[in-house]
Amino acid sequence: MGVVAAARTDETLLDVARRSGIPLGNACGGVGVCARCVVEVCQGLEALTPPTTIEQRVSSERRLGSGKRLACQVVIIGDCVITTDYW
Ligand code: FES
Repeated sequence: MGVVAAARTDETLLDVARRSGIPLGNACGGVGVCARCVVEVCQGLEALTPPTTIEQRVSSERRLGSGKRLACQVVIIGDCVITTDYW
């Protein structure tokens, strides 16, 4: 989409997207069960907090693969570039 957004302290990727008007799927309110918020990290995988237990479980069950993260479970701690299948 070419949008640049800045994260606030302890803000999830989904929260940043919502605040910035970036459309990201979500159907569970960000509790980590629907996997609609999956994003692909193009750059800066190390700039995201490690997967939570919930994210690990969902990622394994849905076989998301490396580089895919749940935006509602990720807190941004540095610069990153993400995309989705539907943008
Ligand atoms: S919003 Fe449902 S898993 Fe992220």
